[in-house]
Amino acid sequence: MTESLWMQQEAFPSAPRLEQDEACDIVVVGTGIAGLSVAYELTLAGRSVLLIDRSALCGGMTARTTAHLAPICDDGLADLIDQRGDELGRGFLQSQAAAVKRIERHVRTLSIDCDFRRLDGLLFPAVGMSRGDAEKFRDREYEAAHKLAVTAGRIEGVGLEGFGSAACLRYPDQATFHPLRYLNGLLADFRARGGRVFANSPVVEIEEGERIRLKIESGRTITASIAIFATNSPINHIAEIHSKQAPYRTYAIAFEIPKGSLPDALYWDMDDPYHYVRLQRGAEADIVIAGGEDHKSGEANDGGARFQALAEWTRKIIPQLGRETARWSGQVMETFDYCGFIGKSPGRYNMFIVTGDSGQGMTHGALAGILIRDLIVSGSSHWEAVYDPARKPPRTIGNYISENLTAVKNFAEYVRPGEISSPDDLKPGEGGVMRDGLKKLAVCRDLDGKVHTHSASCTHMGCIVHWNATEQCWDCPCHGSQFAADGTVLNAPAIHPLESSQK
Ligand SMILES: Cc1cc2nc3c(=O)[nH]c(=O)nc-3n(C[C@H](O)[C@H](O)[C@H](O)COP(=O)(O)OP(=O)(O)OC[C@H]3O[C@@H](n4cnc5c(N)ncnc54)[C@H](O)[C@@H]3O)c2cc1C
Ligand code: FES
Repeated sequence: MTESLWMQQEAFPSAPRLEQDEACDIVVVGTGIAGLSVAYELTLAGRSVLLIDRSALCGGMTARTTAHLAPICDDGLADLIDQRGDELGRGFLQSQAAAVKRIERHVRTLSIDCDFRRLDGLLFPAVGMSRGDAEKFRDREYEAAHKLAVTAGRIEGVGLEGFGSAACLRYPDQATFHPLRYLNGLLADFRARGGRVFANSPVVEIEEGERIRLKIESGRTITASIAIFATNSPINHIAEIHSKQAPYRTYAIAFEIPKGSLPDALYWDMDDPYHYVRLQRGAEADIVIAGGEDHKSGEANDGGARFQALAEWTRKIIPQLGRETARWSGQVMETFDYCGFIGKSPGRYNMFIVTGDSGQGMTHGALAGILIRDLIVSGSSHWEAVYDPARKPPRTIGNYISENLTAVKNFAEYVRPGEISSPDDLKPGEGGVMRDGLKKLAVCRDLDGKVHTHSASCTHMGCIVHWNATEQCWDCPCHGSQFAADGTVLNAPAIHPLESSQK
């Protein structure tokens, strides 16, 4: 099975390149769910907005999502209270629920045919977990839900093989949808209201000032009074944010299943990292989409084994599955306290960021639309303290230090030997870091057998990149940049390609 995305059957929206200099009130960089939601809400509020993307519209991590629209914190409610306390924890849950309501409202108002529906979220034990441990886990989450004013019910069993009488928790009123169809609907109305959008136009330079000046790769410029960076990991120079979050890779797989064989719900297990499952309605058969097997980006290159483990796990709990139809992976940004960073870029008055989506980028993205709109239009938001990008780590010092250590550990790699000694060590599809005197080179042989050699120093802040055979790209473990075999940037925060080398 070759890697593909489950959303690929849907047309990605298109837009022209930026071919002339532009001036506007507000520029939003990034057209994933975060950028589009922010641009749309500001347009509804009467502001003039220009939206721009480095590549295809909606082609970033939003194209890779499994689209659970779950207000429930995916790191667990009890842990959320440990990190943020009751009040901010409640604010997190209320804001995430408001984001889902906002999506629902747009779906209804714009009559977007995106299969939006409300359904239960069901938490069930990890495979092999004892009844006692599952009950303990469930009861801790149940009590936390009660404290945070979230409706939850203890139930005995869900419709998955082996879990018919397990200790489970039910969260009503979660949701799901087809994100690309939804975003196509938002984009059409954004344009109808005068919003301008450009694709394939990477921002390569940011000049701050009362009027912010963005330079595009083609040499064109955009000047704006306000800039919002919704690039998944921010491209404006704020080292502070990058020291408070870390990139994780997560894997997903899709299978056909006869219609009506699995109750329509969002399923999450109690494992760490957890697995997640949901149903996508199809014409002839339904599709089961399962995900999990996460690891810190750049710290494993065993996607094949992870897909196999995920497929086996899914078939074990849903034996009715038919043929596999797609498998893919992507990246999520995990913050030190489970909540995203949405708001003013620290120390700036006219630059805003959205990042730290965790496994809840759909709701974080929609929420960013409401929160940033309120900050810009009214000067404050009900939830700004929950997501304040300038916040410090209060009780999570262990977590915080371990995320920061990624960069420290990574820089130690400069003095270690390389992974390969010559490009001849590589078969098609393989890559490795090679020592060249004091330098480290990123060498890969693409699937057509061509060798590419670049500096292994990430152009963001210099960490050593690692080969990812599953996605055929270089991952930077520090802050989430990814580069194609030919060195071009695939994922922010990097702006510039890997430096080419003569080797
Ligand atoms: C496998 C997987 C499953 C997931 N499942 C869920 C789920 O069930 N529920 C959920 O809520 N979340 C889920 N997520 C997370 C969610 O999909 C993402 O967090 C979310 O889509 C991120 O949206 P975004 O708009 O922030 O980023 P993106 O969609 O990545 O958009 C960022 C955009 O910025 C553009 N950009 C970057 N740099 C530049 C530049 N220099 N110039 C111009 N443009 C630039 C990129 O091209 C890109 O289009 C999942 C993620 C993965 C990978
Ligand atoms: S992403 Fe920051 S150093 Fe690579």
